[in-house]
Amino acid sequence: MQHFKALIQQFAQHFDTPHFPEHPLHLYQPCDYFLSLGGKRIRPVLCLLGNDLFAPLHPDVYELATAVELFHNFTLIHDDIMDDASLRRGMETVHTKYGTNVALLSGDVMLIRAYEYINRLQPHYLQRILTIFNTTAKQVCEGQQLDMDFEKYTNVSFDEYVHMIGLKTSVLLAGSLEMGGIIGGASDSDLAHLYQFGLNLGIAFQIQDDYLDAFGNPETFGKEVGGDIKQNKKTFLLIHALDVANAEQRQQLYQLMEQNPPDKVAQILSIFTACNVDAWANSLKENYLQKAYAHLEAIQVAPERKIALQELAAYLIVRVQ
Ligand code: IPE
Ligand code: IPE
Ligand code: MG
Ligand code: MG
Ligand code: MG
Repeated sequence: MQHFKALIQQFAQHFDTPHFPEHPLHLYQPCDYFLSLGGKRIRPVLCLLGNDLFAPLHPDVYELATAVELFHNFTLIHDDIMDDASLRRGMETVHTKYGTNVALLSGDVMLIRAYEYINRLQPHYLQRILTIFNTTAKQVCEGQQLDMDFEKYTNVSFDEYVHMIGLKTSVLLAGSLEMGGIIGGASDSDLAHLYQFGLNLGIAFQIQDDYLDAFGNPETFGKEVGGDIKQNKKTFLLIHALDVANAEQRQQLYQLMEQNPPDKVAQILSIFTACNVDAWANSLKENYLQKAYAHLEAIQVAPERKIALQELAAYLIVRVQ
């Protein structure tokens, strides 16, 4: 088994225990429900791999990884409200199942629970890690707000899009690696490369997420295919299509976004296909992956220690869920 997959299993043994009390039931049951749906557990495994690159796993890294996964799940509960999404990990989203008020508060308490795990870290690096955690959390909020703002904009440039996904998605991958690296005792220069590796990988990861949202297999994707199109999300697919479309296609795209006809998703998908967004997506992902690898290469540890991160990165950009 690939090392990163073994570490995901190892993390699961720590994580799959109750994180919340039983009462009040209507606050904590939705938290348990959502965590029981699983997910890929990418961010906690990045914490572990950040540590593993430099030193044997320290018990603290499991506390950190747990905090990061709880934080991520909190963002998803709120994101699903914001994106009006009814399906997550192949199951009902929290607000669909329990109502929006419950989803807000259950998400909030999950975030607070995350901080309780952070608070268990050894004092000599607690403040440093907390600073990264807080900066990351604020950036994720900034990215989420830009993502929502962009729904209303007619035009978003490719650079604005990359800036937005860097905030909403990449910083958490990068921060997970960096915080794990701190527990592993990495040097500042290695931490900087590790962070850049995570940032570039995160962009490639979100490009694949956007791609799957349009072209994924509903059987495996676990979210509603076409959800981004319905919400007029300014994904790279749309930005690229608007960029290369002929005048008639561009006009059609704007009209479909404005009028929201019942067959909007199918019509927009066919324009995406005509604009070859597939090939563009692949080369774009590959580009960011290579940038990420270059930073991994610059880290001053034996090459064999980097294999797990290379394998995880390669898996993330071809994943189907
Ligand atoms: C979903 O993240 C949110 C994005 C940044 C695209 P994941 O795809 O890691 O979600 P889970 O945890 O595996 O469900
Ligand atoms: C989610 O981005 C990023 C955060 C939750 C911070 P998306 O809205 O693309 O994620 P999915 O597709 O719902 O998982
Ligand atoms: Mg969103
Ligand atoms: Mg969403
Ligand atoms: Mg998405």
